[in-house]
Amino acid sequence: MKIISGNSNLPLTRAIAGYLELPVVDASVRRFADEEIFVEIHENVRGEDVFVVQSTSYPANDNLMELLIMIDALRRASAKRITAVLPYFGYARQDRKPGPRTPISAKLVANLITQAGADRVLSIDLHAGQIQGFFDIPTDNLFAAPVMSADILARFGNEQLMVVSPDVGGVVRARALAKRLNNAPLAIVDKRREKPGESEVMNIIGQVQDHFCIIIDDIVDSGGTLCNAAAALKEQGASDVVAYCTHGVLSGGAAPRIDGSQLKELVITDSIQATEAVKDAGRIRHLTIAPLLGEAIRRIADESSVSSLFD
Ligand code: R5P
Repeated sequence: MKIISGNSNLPLTRAIAGYLELPVVDASVRRFADEEIFVEIHENVRGEDVFVVQSTSYPANDNLMELLIMIDALRRASAKRITAVLPYFGYARQDRKPGPRTPISAKLVANLITQAGADRVLSIDLHAGQIQGFFDIPTDNLFAAPVMSADILARFGNEQLMVVSPDVGGVVRARALAKRLNNAPLAIVDKRREKPGESEVMNIIGQVQDHFCIIIDDIVDSGGTLCNAAAALKEQGASDVVAYCTHGVLSGGAAPRIDGSQLKELVITDSIQATEAVKDAGRIRHLTIAPLLGEAIRRIADESSVSSLFD
C-alpha cells in the first residue's frame, strides 16, 4: 500500500500516513510558465495499491486538475489499483439540474476522475448519498458522525441536547447524529435559498425552547445558513447554539461572520486545509478525521469491512 498526496491538504495526508505508519510517496507537482500542471512520481509504484489524497477544495479547478494528472501518472506507472481519496469532494452541490439548461457538474467531475484511471473512490460526508452512484466504480462514503458525537458527548453531554437540521435535505444526517446522542430530540429549519450564497430562515419545526441546540451540516461555505439558523434558534428560546460541519469551505468573509454570530462555537474537521483566517477565528474549533480515513484505507487495502467502522 502507498499513500501519495496532492497539494490541497498535505497536513491531512501526513496525519493519515502517520496513522498507517507509512511514508508519503515522494512526488513533485510543478507548474509550467503558463500554469500547466506537471506531476512526477519519484519512486516505483508498479503493482502497488495506491491511495491518492486530494480534496477538490479552493482553488477547486486547480486541485481537481492536479488530482486527474496524478491519477494519470500513477496509471501510466502501472500502479495495480488507484483509490482517489477525496476528503472533500468539490462540485458535490451541483448534483442536479436546478433549472433548464444547467449542468450536473458533480456527475461530470465523477466521470473525469473515473476516466483518468481511478479504480475506487473514498470520501466522507458526500453532500448527498446518491453521489456515490455518479461513480461507476466502488465508492465508500464515510461519516464524520462518530468523531462529532464523541466530541459532543465529552463537551456538552450534561446539557439538554437537541439536534437541528439546518434544512430539509439534512434531516437524515441529523437523525443519525441524534441517534448517537442517546436519541436526542430533533428540530428542522425551513430554509429558503433564492440564489447561491444567500439563505433565509422561514420557520423552525420543533420546540427548541431551553434546549442546547447542535446544528449539523455537511458544508459551511459563506456561513449564512448557520448564522441565520443560530439567530432564529436563539429567538425561539434556545439556551445555546453550537454547529458541527464536516467540510469548512468558509469562503470570503465567513470566518469573521461566524465570530460575530449567535453561534457559541463552530466545529469543523480537517477535510479542507484551514486558511489563516479560519485558524485565527476564535469561535472555530477543529477535529481531525485522519484516524477515520486511515482506518478506512487500511480496511480497503486488507479487503475487510469499512461499514463496520460505523456500527
Ligand atoms: C446545502 O445544502 C449545504 O448542506 C450547506 O447548508 C450549504 O452549502 C451551506 O452554505 P452557506 O454556508 O453558504 O450557507
